[in-house]
Amino acid sequence: MKTKQFIKDNKKRFLKELFELLKIKSVSVDPAYNKEVDKAADFLVKQFNLLKLDRVEKIKTEGHPIVYAEKILDKDFPTILVYGHYDVQPADPYELWDSPPFEPIIKNEKIYARGACDDKGQMYMHLKAYEILNELDDVSFNIKFMIEGEEECGSDNLEKFVINNKKKLKANVIVISDTSIVNNDTPSITCGLRGLSYMEVELTGPNRDLHSGTYGGAVDNPINVLCKIIGSLKDENGIIQIPGFYDKVKEFSDDDRDEMNKIPFDLDDFKSHIDINEVFGEKGFSTVERIGIRPTLDVNGIWGGYTNEGSKTVLPSKAFAKISMRLVSNQSSSEITELFKKHVQNLCPKSCKIIVKEHHGGEPVIVNTNTSGYKAAYFAFKKVWGKKPVLTFDGGSIPIVALFKNELQLDSILMGFGLDEDAIHSPNESFGLFNFFKGIETITVFYKNFAKQND
Ligand code: BES
Ligand code: MN
Ligand code: MN
Repeated sequence: MKTKQFIKDNKKRFLKELFELLKIKSVSVDPAYNKEVDKAADFLVKQFNLLKLDRVEKIKTEGHPIVYAEKILDKDFPTILVYGHYDVQPADPYELWDSPPFEPIIKNEKIYARGACDDKGQMYMHLKAYEILNELDDVSFNIKFMIEGEEECGSDNLEKFVINNKKKLKANVIVISDTSIVNNDTPSITCGLRGLSYMEVELTGPNRDLHSGTYGGAVDNPINVLCKIIGSLKDENGIIQIPGFYDKVKEFSDDDRDEMNKIPFDLDDFKSHIDINEVFGEKGFSTVERIGIRPTLDVNGIWGGYTNEGSKTVLPSKAFAKISMRLVSNQSSSEITELFKKHVQNLCPKSCKIIVKEHHGGEPVIVNTNTSGYKAAYFAFKKVWGKKPVLTFDGGSIPIVALFKNELQLDSILMGFGLDEDAIHSPNESFGLFNFFKGIETITVFYKNFAKQND
């Protein structure tokens, strides 16, 4: 009750602070925004100092800084490690936003801005949850915050940091709010995340763009070849044709699958939100399963040849594509990357040369639900939302979670509060005010439950 009152009395200020963060253009993949990324780190340093945390540090890396802060009240208290990210995806294409992406506004009870949900809004809930318990003198746990600025570009430097700072990061649980719930009537806890292999293919035909009349029909066209290769990677049943691709995919029992399909997922809503007439995916699996427990392959971008105004009759020298694969347990990102390379190289005819490069990847995750952290999250949702949360498998990736498990031997509790319609990574990203404030409340109860279970 006290928490609710505190939130009510401080709503305006909480939003004002979040808006200050949302105004900072911390786009991590584009070096043009480096200064802004740094500014977002400084903002967090300021907020952590206001929370009177200790060891507030802006840690330099080869890339963007990591912000760390902690409060160790008592060595015998359990320690909660909060992870989140303050970097955001690029806001392009700007013209598709109804309001400027870095000028947050509230409309229809939602905050609209790049990063509103992913992950500034969700990460900031933890600072406010801690503030509330601290102000109410209700903290019986130690807390460590580790907020990075490179999640959207692969977390390379955070990986090194974690490996080199195991002692500093010692904790009893990791909690992350960077995933989604089914809907506002169906709270859920994420127990699976997909992994990722991200590839780039470059095909070269002739050594220069050619006149398509003088040469066309006699010289192979790298764009045609690339399209053929891509077209052959999935069959008409949505099954990926790379040999060995499915070898390590974890098969779920019929009971587990039945359970998974019980979540109130509405296929018609799903289709109408994104304006499609029909879904497509691996035959034999439902949409929920296709997203949660099955791997996939998608072209993320393709280019080459002439694409400007009007027509230019040209037979291009080069063709490019970025292709990503979402992986599931127990596939390994490095193994799949190798299988892809080999297969695509084999598909390239003698008429072209091919280079297959890899970008960052990440391993899939299944969270152990038989832990005190999971139970604390379960009961927090139950208490605050008045409903038992359901288990879900999310299709997105948070590559650092598998590393936390391997290097720190800790399961991460994925208690996110976003919705699919929040449009993360897309124009008009949003985050519901209901989700923001309810999330803060749920997190306070999680912290307290966890402390109680582990004292
Ligand atoms: N928060 C997302 C991941 C996510 C989204 C998990 C929705 C569950 C539900 C995260 O910021 C993200 O976008 N991750 C990237 C991976 C990264 C290597 C670029 C992704 O999934 O594409
Ligand atoms: Mn995120
Ligand atoms: Mn993201």
